[in-house]
Amino acid sequence: MAVIDIHGVEKTYKGKIHALRGVSLEVHDGEIFGLLGPNGAGKSTLVKILMTVINASKVSGTFLGHPIGHRPSLKKVGYLPEHHKFPQYLTAIQVLQFYGALSKVPKPIRTKRAYALLERLGLTGWEKKKVSTFSKGMRQRLGIAIALINDPDVVVLDEPTDGVDPVGRREIRDLLAELKTEGKAVFLNSHLLSELEMVCDRVAIMVKGQMTMQGTIDELTRESTRFEINVKGEVPDWAEQTFDDVRGTTLVKHGDDTSQLQSLIDQLRATNVTISSIEPKRESLEDLFMRAVDYIDNPGSVR
Ligand SMILES: Nc1ncnc2c1ncn2[C@@H]1O[C@H](COP(=O)(O)OP(=O)(O)OP(=O)(O)O)[C@@H](O)[C@H]1O
Ligand SMILES: [Mg+2]
Repeated sequence: MAVIDIHGVEKTYKGKIHALRGVSLEVHDGEIFGLLGPNGAGKSTLVKILMTVINASKVSGTFLGHPIGHRPSLKKVGYLPEHHKFPQYLTAIQVLQFYGALSKVPKPIRTKRAYALLERLGLTGWEKKKVSTFSKGMRQRLGIAIALINDPDVVVLDEPTDGVDPVGRREIRDLLAELKTEGKAVFLNSHLLSELEMVCDRVAIMVKGQMTMQGTIDELTRESTRFEINVKGEVPDWAEQTFDDVRGTTLVKHGDDTSQLQSLIDQLRATNVTISSIEPKRESLEDLFMRAVDYIDNPGSVR
């Protein structure tokens, strides 16, 4: 089942900034979905529309089976907004209690859950400390705890690891994987590509308000799978015809056919070519991201 299923979302802000230009996207039940895109691509705008913080100029589709804008269904959604601010005079536990109360979580449950979440987010010992004394990364951890105070079915996180150190980022990644095993769907925005690569089941890349690619990382990078054979000395003449590309002393064969690779090695060895290395290669998420940005800037370019 699709948790989020939206089509043709348009948003033009006052001042005529056309932030979203016909965005469609599907997030499935129980998956971790990553939305990537450069600064100003429209990621937060899309999240704010889903969370009813702002209105779309045009939208069709559903969130948890209800039309976008249906506030009661957001009871089952946890949200970490970008640039969040908490009342500075409250302690961590008071902040969680406050948001728990806003989400109508009964008092005994929210108190217990608040302590458990602070522990889960690595904030043990900080329960009674004022938020004003928290570092940036600690505020971010607190924000994630708030997103979980209503025990949501879907968690929407706008840049969850913003300002968090490498150890904390790893902990958050592990937490996301745990949420998934608990059956929750996670929708997150991030710039940290290698991180998304590790944790997301599917990703979408948005550039200038348009969706350019959507799928599993495996699906999106499959076409780029290749073997690169590095040889020493002269490249034989026949290599130009046999390989898909010859770059200096690197011979490139597309695909992942290992039996074909063996016969290529035999051919090379038969003509006394010295092979110094053979490397299977595939695009990284960063390569995909660069390609998506390039495609929007130069739509005529080869994808
Ligand atoms: N309240 C607003 N009023 C007018 N324009 C806005 C407003 N909020 C965002 N925009 C514009 O909409 C576009 C998309 O912004 P958005 O914040 O959605 O991008 P983003 O992908 O989340 O970027 P970042 O990675 O920097 O967080 C930008 O051009 C931005 O200037
Ligand atoms: Mg943003």
